[in-house]
Amino acid sequence: MKKNQLLMYFLLAVSFLQACTQNMNEENIKLKSPKGKVEISFLLKADGSAAYLVKYNNSAVIDTSLLGFEFKNQSPIGAGFKIIGSKADSVSETWEMPWGEQREVVNNYNELVVNLQEIKEPNRLMNIFFKAYDDGIGFRYEFPEQANLDTLIITDENTQFNLTADHKVWWIPGDWDIYEHLYSTTKFSEINALADKYKVQLAQTYIPQNAVATPVTMKTEEGIYLSFHEANLTDYSGMTLKIDKENLLMQSELVGSERTAYKVKRAVPFQTPWRTIQIAEKAGDLIESNLIVNLNEPNKLGDVSWFKPTKYMGIWWEMHLGKSSWDLASGKHGATTENAKAFIDFASENKIGAVLVEGWNTGWEHWIGFEDREGVFDFVTPYPDYDLNEVVRYGKEKGVALFMHHETSAAIGTYNQQMDTAFQLMHSLGIHAVKTGYVGKIIPKGEYHHGQWMVNHFQKVIETAAKYDIAINAHEPIKATGIRRTYPNFVSREGLRGQEFNAWSSDGGNPTEHLPIVAFARMLAGPVDFTPGIFNIKLKPYRDENQINTTLAQQLALYVVIYSPVQMAADLIEHYEGQPAFQFIRDVGVNWETTKVLNGEIGDFVTIVRKERGSDKWFLGSITDENARDLKVNFNFLDNDKKYEAIVYKDGKDAHWDKNPTSIEIEKIIIDKTSKMELKLAAGGGIAISIIPVKE
Ligand code: NOJ
Ligand code: CA
Repeated sequence: MKKNQLLMYFLLAVSFLQACTQNMNEENIKLKSPKGKVEISFLLKADGSAAYLVKYNNSAVIDTSLLGFEFKNQSPIGAGFKIIGSKADSVSETWEMPWGEQREVVNNYNELVVNLQEIKEPNRLMNIFFKAYDDGIGFRYEFPEQANLDTLIITDENTQFNLTADHKVWWIPGDWDIYEHLYSTTKFSEINALADKYKVQLAQTYIPQNAVATPVTMKTEEGIYLSFHEANLTDYSGMTLKIDKENLLMQSELVGSERTAYKVKRAVPFQTPWRTIQIAEKAGDLIESNLIVNLNEPNKLGDVSWFKPTKYMGIWWEMHLGKSSWDLASGKHGATTENAKAFIDFASENKIGAVLVEGWNTGWEHWIGFEDREGVFDFVTPYPDYDLNEVVRYGKEKGVALFMHHETSAAIGTYNQQMDTAFQLMHSLGIHAVKTGYVGKIIPKGEYHHGQWMVNHFQKVIETAAKYDIAINAHEPIKATGIRRTYPNFVSREGLRGQEFNAWSSDGGNPTEHLPIVAFARMLAGPVDFTPGIFNIKLKPYRDENQINTTLAQQLALYVVIYSPVQMAADLIEHYEGQPAFQFIRDVGVNWETTKVLNGEIGDFVTIVRKERGSDKWFLGSITDENARDLKVNFNFLDNDKKYEAIVYKDGKDAHWDKNPTSIEIEKIIIDKTSKMELKLAAGGGIAISIIPVKE
């Protein structure tokens, strides 16, 4: 039975009269989305508590949920309010992404601000902003300027999300230190984030209670999809969601700090990040939703054309395979001038715009497994067998950019100290992008990767980088919350269990359902540096116990399915040489005019098509979990009267992620917008199609 129904019987049984009088004292302000599908109600309950509820197509998707905070040296806030004002507004605008999944983004919503004041002393003021979109909602708190309130020290934010039933949930634990977990698929009432399997194999992890990380995505029995997240996480702590199984309720649990024993400290006035719920009738609509970026401020950097979306290769996978190492002392140092030049040569011959070199700088002998990591890495001094200037010069000659690498090993003091100098060096060499990394427990001790202190660190990095025309691709990052709209130099990030786990994880690597979940969960937050394109699926001769749990065709499809403006061709040069399937990686776009999700179910399969910016080419990617599938698609998104050559890279008839992963068939056919196709995906398989207009 649904929780709603239970509640209804209870209410009827108690007393009709009582309910009426309560309602008379309650105040209720409604806000509908532009097409009226989504309705938010702000409620001031009889005791003056602030609450909200959300309806979709006239049925509740979020039941009455309370709003409030607890503070250090202040009484909690949330009840005993009166409404002292409210204002509604409507906005419809279109803005342009400098790079992205689409060029134009429609931002169309209705907004309500409710001004609250406590009836009793200290008569504090709090405002709540609500935005109703047709694809979901956002709300945020504001503490406006007021007498006797200079600073707030938040010990708990108590925002509730009261579910209407025991939904199916795709979740990772609310880890304060890392997002690199496998997803679980369970009923809400079965969520157990403290299970032991989450404690293995991570350089840092801290899961203090039964909570989940966001984005967390759910499906109701009625087939409605909900995804909970936050937008514009600035000068605040990351939010996890604490699970109350009995009441089918989630409550915000901010990431804390043992150094300060509070969650957030802010000078008043301030606004919190947006709390968001994306709502859709089709799973794919979650991917097409732009709610998260829409809830961020417009571009503050202006022209960022110095950053060009690009494919890249790198001295990277070889370290994860154990073929070479980051550190010089190992005797098998990967980042040599010679090796970098070999990558540059290959990239230049194959339309790959950039090369990443990890392990180029001193410090790698002492980067992991040590407590004292401050002062170890140096972000300007190359190892003696790596001539940075020469590599940059050679890259320029060959038309290939260098991606810088800064592994901080989470020693934040050292990075803070050197950041400016490091970015200056990059600027002087004309290097416009850096991959950063934060492996290990944060120094200073007591801070976590996802707390306010680190959120502010990432913000400082992004703003400092912007001064030097530098783009950031962060690993072990804070979650994406759409800040790329405001700071379009935050181009990509990891923040999930990436490809690297397939190389060395002892738990069997990423299962086949991993990416069909990621597409509907982590990817809703923003670009993902997953690093696809491994052709040597069985990892021979480097890792006998490991493999990639997909077919080769799926590795190609990921360039379209998993969005990032920097997309790695992650494998070794020798694994691409002479491979006809590599043509897809040469051809595939990285910057998109439009994106459409043709079909998909969370954890099962998804098919996405994207049109390249500045060309008439389309690319299709489709992936499946452990089940083989036939998916019917039509091409009615193509232009009228145009013929296209479709180069189809599909699983061979006998392909299977484990038994025969590299079986692939490539065929060329002519299609137009009336064409239909049956995509045949093998178990753990995929399909990738380049759709290129035929020259008349
Ligand atoms: C972890 C990152 O995810 C990986 O890509 C990188 O190679 C290592 N850290 C070293 O920085
Ligand atoms: Ca990582």
